[in-house]
Amino acid sequence: MNISHIEHIGIAVKDLHAAIPYYETVLGLKCYNIEEVANQKVRTAFFMVGQTKIELLEPTSEDSPVSKFLETKGEGVHHIAFAVDNLQASLDEVESKGVRLIDKSPRGGAEGLNIAFLHPKSTGSVLTELCEKGQ
Ligand code: CO
Repeated sequence: MNISHIEHIGIAVKDLHAAIPYYETVLGLKCYNIEEVANQKVRTAFFMVGQTKIELLEPTSEDSPVSKFLETKGEGVHHIAFAVDNLQASLDEVESKGVRLIDKSPRGGAEGLNIAFLHPKSTGSVLTELCEKGQ
């Protein structure tokens, strides 16, 4: 597997519009995109920091994985996403090394990326996403 950089850090929030002012007013970042990702039941807001993004995640339904996270852990860092150059091959490789996968094959994420999650039981409790640019 070849990781080029941290693509984004995902942060769970209850309310995007309540969370965004800290990033804009205090940190001086600019929210450049708000996008709903139906298959993950989240609405996302993005900020660029160098070549890495901050991805705020607000659940859009009570059965969203982010709703469950907020209930048990509260707001805060939710996942880390690494950019790889061949997502399916990377998934096959980590699975061959004994890592449990949440997604056995890539699916569509925000910002036109193909993404897949590794199970936190296999990653030291850090929910880990691998992603590659969509074709
Ligand atoms: Co993500």
